[in-house]
Amino acid sequence: MKVGVLTGGGDCAGINAVIRAVVRRAADRDIEIVGIRRGWAGLLEPDLVPLNYDQVADIISLGGTILLTSRTNPFKKDGGPQLVMKNVKDSRIDALVAIGGEDTLGVAHRLADYGLKAVGVPKTIDNDLSETDVTFGFDSAINVAVDAIDRVRTTGMSHERVMVVEVMGRDAGWIALHAGIASGAHVILVPEEEFDIDSICETIMARRKAGKNFTLVVAAEGARVKLKHGQVTSAQDVDQFGHPKLGGIGHLLAGEIEKATQFETRDVVLGHTLRGGSPLAFDRVLSTRLGVAAIDLVLRGGFDRMVALRGNAIVDVEIGDAIKAKPLDEGLLSVGRLFS
Ligand code: F6P
Repeated sequence: MKVGVLTGGGDCAGINAVIRAVVRRAADRDIEIVGIRRGWAGLLEPDLVPLNYDQVADIISLGGTILLTSRTNPFKKDGGPQLVMKNVKDSRIDALVAIGGEDTLGVAHRLADYGLKAVGVPKTIDNDLSETDVTFGFDSAINVAVDAIDRVRTTGMSHERVMVVEVMGRDAGWIALHAGIASGAHVILVPEEEFDIDSICETIMARRKAGKNFTLVVAAEGARVKLKHGQVTSAQDVDQFGHPKLGGIGHLLAGEIEKATQFETRDVVLGHTLRGGSPLAFDRVLSTRLGVAAIDLVLRGGFDRMVALRGNAIVDVEIGDAIKAKPLDEGLLSVGRLFS
């Protein structure tokens, strides 16, 4: 049996650990693994590399993806899906392990109608896939965020400033909420709820009145300002999945806060820092378990399904259900509100 493995969408810590586990489990089961480079792009214009035991040695701690990634959507190209299927067939690939988020797995799901046999592995720092308690990459990302915010805190306190930290999170506030709670932020802004600049300024003023001259604001890049406009973008164009390039809410907010309160305000964008670097132990273990489970799922013929974490168990779920956005946990949101 020959199984292809690809990584699509934004990278994150832990992808290489999944690839390693896929290759190791496959070797154990006499399955040949071929790596597909740059996500779906590597099946539109075939770019395949054989992957064996030696090539994945010592990559468990390596950030990024050795297979490279892209945001290529075969459904945006005339005849794209048919071309992918032809190349899968010509390469004698029997099944595919797709490591990705809603976009990459969404393509795998749609290609099932064209005969693709794929299993999914949930990857994204945004943690916004349904049917899994967590996606790999998320834990490492929030720990990078908290470490950085702790540093922002000490300089902000010393200068008695308002510090606005922008974190990733396009349509989901999981990163902002977790990093905000863990770093003791005074204001947490998530894309799921529109926010009002006046009320943030009132919070800052009230803190000053109470003798607290430092305020920490953690904002998801996708946070929306009430009544003014939608999300803040850093470019006009959208990617092949229709996503705008977000960025700039932190800067906008810092300017508005300084104008309204007259307090010195600075903004810091953590952005891609959250996606880079080595996975932490939690993600290394989760990625390894998911990679092993993905090959086991292929062997069981569980196609159009995704491996997932539920409690402490690895299970498998419909990809079609998993790609629906995971709503923020209401309980956690109310805990966040208590402190911010
Ligand atoms: O992969 C998800 C994500 O990290 C989002 O949080 C963010 O909006 C996006 O990727 C940024 O993507 P790119 O690297 O293409 O700018």
